[in-house]
Amino acid sequence: MYQFAPQADAAKPELYRELADAADALTSGEPDAVANMANLAALIWQFVPRLNWAGFYRVGKSRDGGDELVLGPFAGMPACIRIPFGQGVCGAAAVSRTTQVVADVNAFPGHIACDAASRSELVVPVLRDGALVAVIDLDSPEPARFDGEDAAGIEALAERIASRI
Ligand code: SME
Repeated sequence: MYQFAPQADAAKPELYRELADAADALTSGEPDAVANMANLAALIWQFVPRLNWAGFYRVGKSRDGGDELVLGPFAGMPACIRIPFGQGVCGAAAVSRTTQVVADVNAFPGHIACDAASRSELVVPVLRDGALVAVIDLDSPEPARFDGEDAAGIEALAERIASRI
């Protein structure tokens, strides 16, 4: 049994440090990327409050052989399966390889609404040896749920687990 207990009153930097340490412990020595992403999605869901979706989109192949994002393990409601590079918040993160912090998803041009409850979103690219392998997507039902500390925390997580997914 795995028991990771986030401190309910921890400040964000401490919370994300604990999350990254738990993620490291949980995926250490396990080579199966899907198993690791499944556990990581569950861990983010457990540690990060006020979310309605948390998970991975992996870089995969579209039917015409180009790159696109394909749904990976997640926690939350069923979601859009394929997202072309450049579309939506996830596609913007994939193309720019930069973190996207969106305070109001309804004001983001091309936002893809998978769950109508989502109001704000954080998407962080996962790079391995300089190549994009996935994005981590967090959605919240609260407007402006994510700030720079959330972005820094998930970026640190992405760096920590990039070789394990
Ligand atoms: N809203 C995302 C799509 C993925 S779902 O939120 C899970 C986007 O605009 O890329």
